[in-house]
Amino acid sequence: MSELLITEYFLSSDISSFLEWTKKVIYLYDYDIVIADKSGIRIYNLIEGEVSRPVDTVEWDAEQIKKGGFEHYMLKEILEQSETIQRAIQQDESVVNRIVDEIRRAYGIFFVGCGSSYHACLTGSYLFSKIAKTHVNVVLASEFENYEHFLTDRTLVFAVSQSGETADVLEAVRAAKRHGSKVIGIVNRMGSSLTRESDEFLLMNAGPEICVLSTKTYTSQVALMTMLAYALAGKYEEGIKKLKGLYMDIYNLTSRSMREHLKKLAEMLVDKEHIYLIGRGLQYATALEAALKIKEVSYIHAEAFAGGELKHGPLALIEDGTPVIVFVAKDNEKKILSNANEVKARGGFVIGVSAERHEIFDYWIKVPECGDLNPIVQIIPMQILAYKLAVLKGLDPDKPRNLAKSVTVI
Ligand code: G6P
Repeated sequence: MSELLITEYFLSSDISSFLEWTKKVIYLYDYDIVIADKSGIRIYNLIEGEVSRPVDTVEWDAEQIKKGGFEHYMLKEILEQSETIQRAIQQDESVVNRIVDEIRRAYGIFFVGCGSSYHACLTGSYLFSKIAKTHVNVVLASEFENYEHFLTDRTLVFAVSQSGETADVLEAVRAAKRHGSKVIGIVNRMGSSLTRESDEFLLMNAGPEICVLSTKTYTSQVALMTMLAYALAGKYEEGIKKLKGLYMDIYNLTSRSMREHLKKLAEMLVDKEHIYLIGRGLQYATALEAALKIKEVSYIHAEAFAGGELKHGPLALIEDGTPVIVFVAKDNEKKILSNANEVKARGGFVIGVSAERHEIFDYWIKVPECGDLNPIVQIIPMQILAYKLAVLKGLDPDKPRNLAKSVTVI
């Protein structure tokens, strides 16, 4: 190592934490131990003994990791999404075709992930069902061991992870490999364990995400899921065209006037103890992700329900003024508005996220109707709302308490 004239070392589970100082990185493998002292570092592997690991260079440039005049990375990353979606879909078509062939050959498909990546998996399963008529099992990576007995050499496992280092996801990948199943990674970080351990992977190309919360990488994951579903249905070009068409929609959804509109809503919600969110189908997955965004950054209890489940319990929580965010799409409008009516009848404060204003809304967040692409456009105002709530509460949205960007422990 000494010939590199390295004078300083940073030990971290996430490269974004030291990118400001260096782009040179040594990725550690399982059972690696690093001994660092004044003379430099030595790496020992508990099984192989002393080992040498290559020094890689991170492709991301220094500009990408600067705040660029923004108060917080979270806002910067939210505003990047018109661009990052476009970068996500710039994939090598031959790799996409190979993955589509694997899906067609597979007997049993799993999508696994944690946190926001899990919500992207759930969204992906609705998209695969809707667009490509293909059934997918969605499993939290930490629960995957319960399904291990279904794995065979014909199973295909999609491991979805921004960092490519989440321990639960890597455990799932290793379980899949033990059974001879194929693993496809959907990952943001080149060089991460997931890029090394999967049989094939698609890079999100979202650039570094510094804020602990996933925003741009979530929509990149959903964009890739959408692209794959269209490709599987034999409509790759159509899917790409639709996703390209999102550029202006996202630009408008992140505009200053939209941010002001959401700030007003945040002012109305900031002192609430609970916020509930409802949706059906794709909008249920969006509601789950929106609830996660709100709770992890503002510490307000936020909980999502499938619209149809309201009457099976959650309705008991609604009192005068209880805020309920309702995600509406054209194909489930009638049913979800009827759920919203049930909320309204109990005194709930109904916030609609939809293309059209409906009478029962106490507050309306206008989003375009984008069909299969609704999960992308509907989550963006929720990311902004969560951000505004954190700022109003004087919290640092980039570093929520008790949370880490990459969770490398089980
Ligand atoms: C942590 C982060 C979340 C992220 C989750 C999964 O909990 O705080 O934002 O969704 O890990 O991370 P991954 O890197 O696997 O997508």
